[in-house]
Amino acid sequence: MPSVTEESVLDALRVVQDPDLHRDIVTLGFVKDVRICDSAVALKIELTTPACPVKDQLKAQAEDAVREIPGVTSVSIEMTAQVRARDTATEELIPGVKTVIAVASGKGGVGKSTVAANLAIALSQSGARVGLLDADIYGPTMPLMMGNNRRPLMSDTPSGPKIVPVTAHGVLMMSLGLILDPDKAVVWRGPMIAQAVRQMLSDVIWGNLDYLVVDLPPGTGDASLSLAQLVPISGVVIVTTPQVVAQEIANKSVIMFRTVGQGQGREIPILGVIENMSGGVFGSGGGQIAADRFGVTMLGTIPLDTAICEGGDAGIPVLLSAPDSAASAALRAITSALAAKLSVLQYQNSQNPPRTDPA
Ligand SMILES: Nc1ncnc2c1ncn2[C@@H]1O[C@H](COP(=O)(O)OP(=O)(O)OP(=O)(O)O)[C@@H](O)[C@H]1O
Ligand SMILES: [Mg+2]
Repeated sequence: MPSVTEESVLDALRVVQDPDLHRDIVTLGFVKDVRICDSAVALKIELTTPACPVKDQLKAQAEDAVREIPGVTSVSIEMTAQVRARDTATEELIPGVKTVIAVASGKGGVGKSTVAANLAIALSQSGARVGLLDADIYGPTMPLMMGNNRRPLMSDTPSGPKIVPVTAHGVLMMSLGLILDPDKAVVWRGPMIAQAVRQMLSDVIWGNLDYLVVDLPPGTGDASLSLAQLVPISGVVIVTTPQVVAQEIANKSVIMFRTVGQGQGREIPILGVIENMSGGVFGSGGGQIAADRFGVTMLGTIPLDTAICEGGDAGIPVLLSAPDSAASAALRAITSALAAKLSVLQYQNSQNPPRTDPA
């Protein structure tokens, strides 16, 4: 019987392709810790996101490939994940945060906060470390939606007193709704917005996070624009409803983020469009039209479902209150598509690092 070597294991694994990155898992550096004991092979496959939609498929293919090596009698593969930092965008304000996903919408009431809350929970359920920042300065609803409205504690750190985010459903959360007096209306002016945002990023102990999901204010007005400029966004998802007006307004958001990116000399990737409240009186298909128009990805549709508003109102988002519902399945699929999209972007960035020399 030929003896099994690390080289033969790696060679065999070259047939396993990552469907999003179009490279084999050995070339991508995903295969780690190959251990061979007589005829038993154990190894780890380290993906770039724990929410990888094809995790099980890759594992099965790798097991098959190794099992076919002559002399191998058993294969044990552990799937792990290490989210890679996309770029330096987050470094200054929130150094421990690898990826910032902004959730935006052209208009209010389309389910942006619902998507943000469930996205954060789905990512955390996949094993990632996740934070949720409610940056909707006009209507901070996250404390209600996530069922935690406790005032955050302060903690002394070497760089001064900082805010400890609260925890809700396994996610670290910060919202202006936790600090503002609900009985006092705040009139937001430009510099105040900038200051509040900076505080919610750099004065909060976010620690090391794989993903920070940010619920932006709706629309393309001053507040959204300042936030889009101030938050170091790795990518944006745009939530829309099936109606034509909603799509048109979603288009405006796409243009806004592209313009902000140009102003900053970088690209703010539009990760895709999500159509929410699909299939009700509004019909469906608007998200796809908006996505096609701008050549962005259609990440999925979420059905109109009373379980969603009941969950949101009770402080238990639908993924937890009705995990087996169609809405929850849609939200999980969207989260996987989004995580895959981010991994592809990160990979492309690592292959083509942004130029720093004058062109
Ligand atoms: N797919 C859905 N099916 C049924 N109800 C939904 C769905 N999505 C969201 N909702 C409900 O619609 C209302 C608005 O949703 P949400 O607060 O998430 O929207 P928003 O875009 O964040 O609004 P705002 O602009 O006010 O911040 C909430 O009561 C929510 O529970
Ligand atoms: Mg909202």
